[in-house]
Amino acid sequence: TLRTVVRGVGSYLPARVMTNAELSTLVDTSDEWIVQRSGIRERHIAAEGETTSDLGLAAARNALAAAGMDAQDIDLIVLATSTPDRTFPASATTIQDKLGIRHGAAFDLQAVCSGFVFALATTDKFLRSGSHKRALVIGAETFSRILDWTDRTTCVLFGDGAGAVVVEAQDQPDGPGGRGILTTHLRSDGRHSSKLYVDGGPSLTQTVGHLRMEGREVFKHAVGMITDVINDAYAATGTSSADLDWFVPHQANKRIIDASAEKLKIAPEKVVITVDRHGNTSAASIPLALDVAVRDGRIQPGHLVMLEAMGGGFTWGSALVRW
Ligand code: ACO
Repeated sequence: TLRTVVRGVGSYLPARVMTNAELSTLVDTSDEWIVQRSGIRERHIAAEGETTSDLGLAAARNALAAAGMDAQDIDLIVLATSTPDRTFPASATTIQDKLGIRHGAAFDLQAVCSGFVFALATTDKFLRSGSHKRALVIGAETFSRILDWTDRTTCVLFGDGAGAVVVEAQDQPDGPGGRGILTTHLRSDGRHSSKLYVDGGPSLTQTVGHLRMEGREVFKHAVGMITDVINDAYAATGTSSADLDWFVPHQANKRIIDASAEKLKIAPEKVVITVDRHGNTSAASIPLALDVAVRDGRIQPGHLVMLEAMGGGFTWGSALVRW
């Protein structure tokens, strides 16, 4: 059966690190409050002039190197981002251009923090249809540019960064033993738009706007939504939490991750956590976390890896991958 197999992972973080101590000089907050409520200790912030496509390009190059592939092997680029360089053209086409690719297609996809899971699921359908062979799926964000740096309830939670995977259509054995993406489940519910949104945009205000969030409201819905789509993945594949080697959740908040893992009976040692060092990098957080866990040797070929995310919209989704 035709499956979408991960061939390589890469990431990129801007050089500048902002600690909680530095943040407490900008707004009325403390390291203790931020760590206790979110698990975040530091985040990376893009340099002036360093854009989302710059971050995504660096991550894409690292993923191609890890896959041992040339950019010319790629015929599809899907970039998940809510912070594109410009309203248009899609930042994916900027990355395509800088990689020197003149064939195939490149487009952006927007599902806020669920963007990487949505992009991976979309790419999986392209590859399994036979229309494209090898894709770069990138999550890249510069949320520092849409934060209200005077609002302590949001500015302490986010960071900048990018991650990418190279995936390839391959013939694989049927069932959960074969390599590749086993199943994906995407959901959205626009009734919740006022709980997490940006208060600007080209059509509504002709401005970029700032992120606004009712954190407690988001938190209230997160665990239920996350566990629902993970249970959908188990039901579709006949697997359970006991079968997982690694749980790589969207890194929004350590308390949400811990509560989800506990509800799903996923052992804490199987959970990949990077929110402490990256903050919430929205669509970039999952491929960033994947890159950390692949490079330090935790995720190995043959492992069963559950990805999940929940974010603005609301949007939420899961992807179960035999590495
Ligand atoms: N420093 C110090 N105090 C603060 C700060 C801060 N940075 N921010 C808020 N406070 C205060 C509040 O004013 C409040 O004070 P009050 O009791 O006097 O009113 C108190 O701390 C508690 O605030 P809560 O909002 O109730 O704190 P909570 O425990 O809910 O934690 C948090 C807040 C971390 C935002 C949490 O609700 C959360 O993580 N929610 C989910 C957010 C999330 O995951 N968002 C990402 C979704 S993904 C996407 O699509 C972008």
